[in-house]
Amino acid sequence: MDRILIKGGVPLQGEVAISGAKNAALPLMAACLLTDQPLELDNVPDLADIGSMQRLLQVLGVEARLLPGAPGRMTLACENVLSTTAPYDLVRRMRASVLVLGPLVAREGIARVSLPGGCAIGTRPIDLHLAGLEALGATIELADGYVTATAPGGLVGGVIRFAQPSVGATENLMMAAALAKGTTEIHGAAREPEIVDLARLLEAMGAGIEGAGSSVLRIEGRPTLGGARHHILPDRIEAGTYVMAAAITGGRVRLTRCRPDLLGAALEKLEEAGVSIEPTEDGMVASRANGALSGVDVMTRPFPGFATDLQAQFMAMMCVAEGASMITETIFENRFMHAPELLRMGANINVHGGTALVRGVSRLNGAPVMATDLRASVSLVLAALAAEGETEINRVYHLDRGYEQIERKLGNLGARVERVA
Ligand code: EPZ
Repeated sequence: MDRILIKGGVPLQGEVAISGAKNAALPLMAACLLTDQPLELDNVPDLADIGSMQRLLQVLGVEARLLPGAPGRMTLACENVLSTTAPYDLVRRMRASVLVLGPLVAREGIARVSLPGGCAIGTRPIDLHLAGLEALGATIELADGYVTATAPGGLVGGVIRFAQPSVGATENLMMAAALAKGTTEIHGAAREPEIVDLARLLEAMGAGIEGAGSSVLRIEGRPTLGGARHHILPDRIEAGTYVMAAAITGGRVRLTRCRPDLLGAALEKLEEAGVSIEPTEDGMVASRANGALSGVDVMTRPFPGFATDLQAQFMAMMCVAEGASMITETIFENRFMHAPELLRMGANINVHGGTALVRGVSRLNGAPVMATDLRASVSLVLAALAAEGETEINRVYHLDRGYEQIERKLGNLGARVERVA
């Protein structure tokens, strides 16, 4: 298993290009199941999760391939659905596999998807996905660890009310509704930029969608949808991570091919903590404004609130800030796995339930560490970049799920980072 070795203490300098968003690409890929015409996606990041989705789609009958000589361009074509089952072995590797449920039942009248079960960051049920499909006329059965959704006569538009916003459920139901008869309304929809990106693709395929980016979505279903070409939006979480990499090392980094506005409330929190973010034509320049970082309280919220996917990285930064910071996680119940690892590097963190009190220390020290999810792992990378001495980060496959060529990108910014097999 690969490990990453980082010798800390180098202020990062230079330019980094931000990749296409993983969490936009995954539902966009699943949308190919809605049509027998080809989709062409640009700016597809080269990540393990994209490979997992590609394999799942291939099992279902999709020809999905990256075009040689055109980096980041993927074509997906599903002339005929060959299987309506998403097997356990693929779903357990990547929860986003559940995104094939809505498109499959909408097109084929039946879909069988392994229940994803819990994961490192929490129990993560899919009840909202299922209740939404029922509101569109599907019958749901759970047996043998699988959910089977059936709608032999096709789905019918309906009104869906979510008690809490869910990114995945909103995406699944938008795709299902795009092939349902009539109009669907989703109240309490998630508002993440990735939802807006999916709406843009579905519109290009022929669906009628109003309200994307707000909490009420109106979707006009069509009997068939067509092919389309789509450029995937930049990865706001990768961008936020490199902003914090610049800040924690006291460096100055130009991020290209991204958008500061996609950071939502994190932008203000970063600035409050002493990070300078200057917008540029195609991104932003991030640096430490003046002197030390300062402790700032944050609470994770659905977009446009502070993203849970940036919480671990922010905690790493707060470990070396002046003063204290109270970090409250409200989206997932178990998303502080990085805290005990950061403690091993000399941080001062007290966790009580969903809240972590971080008291800044003057320096962190390198140590062997590991983490059990993607964002927790990258927070250890940030801590390592600022730490004295060498840090060994194990279980690098978590990073490979969501950060394209992380050691090359950091290396280009001057970090002393090395991957060893
Ligand atoms: C998406 O997960 C992202 N994944 C996650 O990114 C991200 O952390 C999360 O949204 C929140 O922003 C992808 O886009 C592929 P949710 P998703 O449904 O859709 C509860 C990363 O590191 N819930 O919005 O699974 C759920 O348990 C990751 O890239 C239900 O109760 O998240 C959670 O508490 C990890 N019932 C909350 O809603 C449901 O049916 C929000 O989850 C669905 C969700």
